[in-house]
Amino acid sequence: MLNVYFDERHVADLWLENKYYCFRYIGLDVPAISLSLPVREAAYLNDEAKPYFANLLPEGESRTAIELRLGVTRGDDYALLQHIGGDCAGAVTLFPYGEQPSATPEYEELSTSELIRLVRELPRQALYTDHSGKVRLSLPGVQHKTALYVENGTFYLPENGAPSSHILKVQITTLPGVTHTVENEIFTMSLARHSGLNVPDVKLQLIGDTPVFLTRRFDRQKSPDGKLHRILQEDVCQLMGLEPTMKYQNSGGPSLEDCANIIRAYSSDSLSDIEHLIRWTLFNIVVGNSDAHAKNIAILQYSGVIRLAPFYDLLSTLVYGTNLDSGLAMSIGREYDLKKINRGSISQFAEFLDVKPRLVQKVGRDMVERLTSSARGALEVYQQSYGENCVVQAIADLSIKRAETLDELLS
Ligand SMILES: Nc1ncnc2c1ncn2[C@@H]1O[C@H](COP(=O)(O)OP(=O)(O)O)[C@@H](O)[C@H]1O
Ligand SMILES: [Mg+2]
Repeated sequence: MLNVYFDERHVADLWLENKYYCFRYIGLDVPAISLSLPVREAAYLNDEAKPYFANLLPEGESRTAIELRLGVTRGDDYALLQHIGGDCAGAVTLFPYGEQPSATPEYEELSTSELIRLVRELPRQALYTDHSGKVRLSLPGVQHKTALYVENGTFYLPENGAPSSHILKVQITTLPGVTHTVENEIFTMSLARHSGLNVPDVKLQLIGDTPVFLTRRFDRQKSPDGKLHRILQEDVCQLMGLEPTMKYQNSGGPSLEDCANIIRAYSSDSLSDIEHLIRWTLFNIVVGNSDAHAKNIAILQYSGVIRLAPFYDLLSTLVYGTNLDSGLAMSIGREYDLKKINRGSISQFAEFLDVKPRLVQKVGRDMVERLTSSARGALEVYQQSYGENCVVQAIADLSIKRAETLDELLS
């Protein structure tokens, strides 16, 4: 059996019965771990709770690397949760029956040479989870990454269930023709901020001479005593009870219309969050991000308020030309090809989301205006901070050009 915690509180249990998942809250006065799994007396059985937990786990190569290292059977979600569920996205953590997070968080300081080794070994030692079971971290996504605690420029490894404060991603090295993805994501996130999107703090961090992408976690909050607490965060797959393998619309996964419906069902300010969804979609068209799928959009619940989470995992895929597919994770109207979006796709997009075309026009114009007036400046700031980079330069050029095209499509 696994004990399920919400931040520091044991709230539920998860166990297997004849290979079937059983999830049950331990009382009726505990916080729900998911908006899709409200607190109730009866257990949630198999398909009802399984997707929520499956969505906490790493995907693709990262997952395979962990399975191999820890000797876990391929595809065994439950065993993986048992090994690495000590710090996940959002408020939830999982501990083997009887174990619990230590009352005082345990952080092991990393020297520069240890940090360099950690980054070097990440592709093989995914998430840096270890055999001893001390480091038990899980994050979704396919890119190589880990979660750390960072304070005053010092990096620490969170141990025995201590919450991490930052996420660190390394360069993608396995896709031919796809380079400088760290620089790409840093710059695209900065363009997003300039375009009026809510994004977390990000930084290009040099570890030795290796650049990595470092982002502050928005699902962690410090209390006045300086202790870090976990906040409920869940992605659209979790909210819709879909397995992570369903994250793409054309494999039966969520559409932008589904995302809008999720916002209408749950957000404390759905009007404003629908506008954010529109802005995010149009921004992705402009920078050429085809991989904006249902696990790259989430909600946060904090102090009783439910809002769209800040946007993450924004990078230009189009800048790599034919080395990456331009097929969209979620269609714009009926259009699945980033390169073929036209006036009709934009008006269908408004229709499918059940919003006035004028709202899409207004949000789009504002986004385009902000982006075109600040892209060159953002590029200069990037170059001053981190030096020149061919991919970043190309993203700036491409975005300015595509912003003009979008402006025409909106008129
Ligand atoms: N700044 C952040 N704060 C909190 N959670 C985050 C943040 N950035 C990413 N995440 C979480 O980590 C997961 C993986 O990050 P992401 O950048 O999407 O990686 P990948 O490129 O592998 O998909 C996300 O799905 C989200 O749950
Ligand atoms: Mg992602």
